[in-house]
Amino acid sequence: MGKHTLQTNITSLQGDIIVPGDKSISHRSVMFGAVAEGVTTVTGFLMGEDCLSTVSCFRQLGVEIEEKNDQMVIHGKGWAGLKEPSEVLNVGNSGTTIRLMMGILAGRNFHATLIGDESIGKRPMTRVTKPLGQMGAKIDGRQHGEYTPLSIRGGGISGIEYHAPVASAQVKSSILLAGLQAEGITTVVEPEKSRDHTERMIRQFGGTVDEKGLSVSVRGGQPLKGTEIQVPGDISSAAFFLVAGAIVPNSCITLKNVGLNPTRTGIIDVMKAMGADITIEETAEEQFEPIGDITIKTSHLKGTTIGGELIPRLIDELPIIALLATQAEGETIIRDAHELKVKETNRIDTVVNELSKLGASITATDDGMVIHGDDKDKFTGGVVSSHGDHRIGMMLAVAALICKEEVSLEHKEAISVSYPQFFADLEKLM
Ligand code: S3P
Repeated sequence: MGKHTLQTNITSLQGDIIVPGDKSISHRSVMFGAVAEGVTTVTGFLMGEDCLSTVSCFRQLGVEIEEKNDQMVIHGKGWAGLKEPSEVLNVGNSGTTIRLMMGILAGRNFHATLIGDESIGKRPMTRVTKPLGQMGAKIDGRQHGEYTPLSIRGGGISGIEYHAPVASAQVKSSILLAGLQAEGITTVVEPEKSRDHTERMIRQFGGTVDEKGLSVSVRGGQPLKGTEIQVPGDISSAAFFLVAGAIVPNSCITLKNVGLNPTRTGIIDVMKAMGADITIEETAEEQFEPIGDITIKTSHLKGTTIGGELIPRLIDELPIIALLATQAEGETIIRDAHELKVKETNRIDTVVNELSKLGASITATDDGMVIHGDDKDKFTGGVVSSHGDHRIGMMLAVAALICKEEVSLEHKEAISVSYPQFFADLEKLM
């Protein structure tokens, strides 16, 4: 592990960054490519550890996947091309891999066992094992299917109408992936709209999906055909530079080719509401996802309230938004964000504890946090930890930029889960 000394006292950040491919879309491109008929070519695939876990699991399921420069080429042979794995499938740190793969395996008439790292072992799984069980898959796991190791024997499943208790794209996608293999129609109704990459992906692979408000339905047995996918840059990775540009003095940063899917752009809405100097140039509706360039300049910020249907549109950005709020005038309230407790870490606790160590004035609440703002020039330094959570690690590296004293980061390696070249990109701006 070892401690890593972060850059502090930065007086300006200037330049352009091409952020790496979107994590959610990269996972789905491999999964859909694996179950489609024919070749799928994915350009701009995120070569982060999470997406590579998806690739290795599908190789174990018998799918040929080639890595060519920045492309992944997947040789799909349809759903029936998936074979019973002879070894345990290890998803590493990736919640998207395990939850979506469970949906795929729910329709396959063979046995598989799934495990992950220590963090995956604490993440709730009945949110997918319960509805997939209702569809007819035989699933078991530690504490009645709540935790890994999970074992599954799928096949012979039927469509259901499922009212999800939480807005979660992983839950929705898992059920839809099972639904594509089920008898009849499968419908998921969400309390709020979560990211819709799976719905867009089904259409991109030639399938049909019906969306009516918060309800999404698929018909089982429809053919999916291999295609070409251009993965946009990940707005969740761009978020770290959006906040760095806003809070470091004398800064101007342009993030190129960022995915601007409206189910993901909550951070832009919040930054605008806080008064950030942010401009967006939509470049093209590239294939199936909108993309554009975002420019951020050092900003004078004011506090805001974040809750309700906005939460699923920025759930992964809440740690870096909390840092942004420390530099705003007045209080920021984050509420309705219970889901933060079941991410790679309990992100209410890790954000509050780690930012407090650097001098922030921030309080945990049951469903979010209150950030007291006006911490400009108050960040000192200290020893902080990612706790093995990539987004906490990157948030702390951005916080360090405005610290006056030395900052060391423990468990820096977690950042490779979603952004292996994060520090190289950050240094380009200095
Ligand atoms: C994701 C959905 C979100 C998000 C995660 C990726 C996805 O999780 O936090 O990083 O790709 O579907 P939930 O579905 O649990 O909210």
